[in-house]
Amino acid sequence: MYICICKAVTERQIREAIDSGACTRKDISACLKAGTGCGKCNPEINSLLRRGRPEARDSLLARAAEAAAYPWRMGGAVQEALL
Ligand code: FES
Repeated sequence: MYICICKAVTERQIREAIDSGACTRKDISACLKAGTGCGKCNPEINSLLRRGRPEARDSLLARAAEAAAYPWRMGGAVQEALL
């Protein structure tokens, strides 16, 4: 099923990118160009990322928790990763 109509990117391609290490929407955009057109697919890409690799999700949650506890350590890195 196509997720990004503008760039003809399927859900399978996005899942494969996530399995290969893509952790953010920026990663998906960089490797597949998905989401770089009209942007209507970005909520679905985010949803796939949230449901994606458990270790990536856990890593992101751990970084978010660390940023909440120690915001001076993280700068804008976590905020960027969460977008
Ligand atoms: S549907 Fe993905 S950028 Fe338009």
